[in-house]
Amino acid sequence: SLTEVFEQEYTGPIYSEGVHLVDGDGNRVTTEALDYGEGMTVYPATHPGIAKAPTVLVRYEESEYGGETRMDSVVEGYAAYSKVCTHAGCMVGGEDENPLVCPCHFGKYDPTQGAAVVGGPPPRPLPQLPITQTENGELIAIGDFEAPVGAGGE
Ligand code: FES
Repeated sequence: SLTEVFEQEYTGPIYSEGVHLVDGDGNRVTTEALDYGEGMTVYPATHPGIAKAPTVLVRYEESEYGGETRMDSVVEGYAAYSKVCTHAGCMVGGEDENPLVCPCHFGKYDPTQGAAVVGGPPPRPLPQLPITQTENGELIAIGDFEAPVGAGGE
């Protein structure tokens, strides 16, 4: 369809201020979504189908975060990062684990340390998405990812 062609070729912002994070069924994700130590894949409500949309949402006690984590982009223990590996663009998995592992060449990222690379070939961290919550606890973006998404982006 025309929509699919558009989504494939889309090069604009992935998230922007106020865009809701939604699950794979399109439901808005709230601060009730995860227990500490869990993770899930979320998408921008405005462009869930684009290649660079998949986002990993994790939750840890705020005291567990450190390193390059942007704490002004963490809310209720939730942090969000691009799911697109910065090495060659595969989707990182192991959402409920620390580190996040890429299945292609076993790149590893620490979601409590700003998704810093802790193993394998990725050249840079997974970009963090700045998030906050609405009055009723829905998670929304404050802006777009803080670095280019995917391979070759720096
Ligand atoms: Fe992820 Fe190579 S694409 S480690």
